[in-house]
Amino acid sequence: MYIKEKYDFRDYRRGTVIRRLENRLNASGTGNYRNYLSFLDAHPEEYEKFAECVTIKVSGFFRTPYTFQQVVQRVFPVLVLEKRKHQERNLRVWCTSCAYGQEPYSVSMLLAEFLGTQRQDFNIFIYATDISRQALSEARSAIYSPREIEGISDTILEKYFNRSNGGYEVIDDIKQMLHFSYFDLTTTSRPPFMNLDLIFCCNFLIYLQKYLQEKVLNMLYDSLRSSGYLVLGEVETLPNSLRKKMMCLDEKAKIYVKN
Ligand SMILES: C[S@@+](CC[C@H](N)C(=O)[O-])C[C@H]1O[C@@H](n2cnc3c(N)ncnc32)[C@H](O)[C@@H]1O
Repeated sequence: MYIKEKYDFRDYRRGTVIRRLENRLNASGTGNYRNYLSFLDAHPEEYEKFAECVTIKVSGFFRTPYTFQQVVQRVFPVLVLEKRKHQERNLRVWCTSCAYGQEPYSVSMLLAEFLGTQRQDFNIFIYATDISRQALSEARSAIYSPREIEGISDTILEKYFNRSNGGYEVIDDIKQMLHFSYFDLTTTSRPPFMNLDLIFCCNFLIYLQKYLQEKVLNMLYDSLRSSGYLVLGEVETLPNSLRKKMMCLDEKAKIYVKN
């Protein structure tokens, strides 16, 4: 489905788009595609509802423990060493499809844990983007329900969250490392950030057809600095064209390094 100058879902996996479209046919009471098209003409706000419905925003804190463990043990130490060697202060990370913010907040908490007092030696920028404005707005508020924080260790919970009206709010010290903004990964091939140290693109490519996955990954490759790291979701992988240009650090953790 293509919504002029707004969304382009034509190269998303058809099965997902069709299933989600059927949800909207039922919710709008239109029942079939022809009626739904007329409904869209009469109710333009339905475009947003459809787009929110197609974009699946399931996420979680420290969602793939093995991957995060490998990032802490094998990526952070190298990044810090390189920064010190080149006397660079800026450490820049991009979470490309951040949903409600659990992933970028997890990364910043782990960085804070890893660096400890060394954090003052660095300017940390964690860019977090998504196509869903609703998800971005909730991510900025940084408040999570008791269910959403299930599984977070007591140590992390006590150190990095405050209780807030029955929920849990990420503390300001962590929030200030994050910069949320809207970015559509599929409709542009010009990266919004360059020279990045580390990119997370997890559990988004699975919703795209192969050709579009490759296009997005090429853009991410361009945004990385040389020797920068790319982390993919558990069931995602690099196409052959990029395997020649990136080394796999850990096949299970889906961590790749730009040659
Ligand atoms: C399943 S969530 C993944 C969240 C997080 N990365 C994780 O692994 O837990 C997929 C996210 O991709 C976002 N998304 C879908 N299409 C997008 C696009 N074209 N550009 C940027 N983000 C997109 C959705 O809004 C959703 O938040």
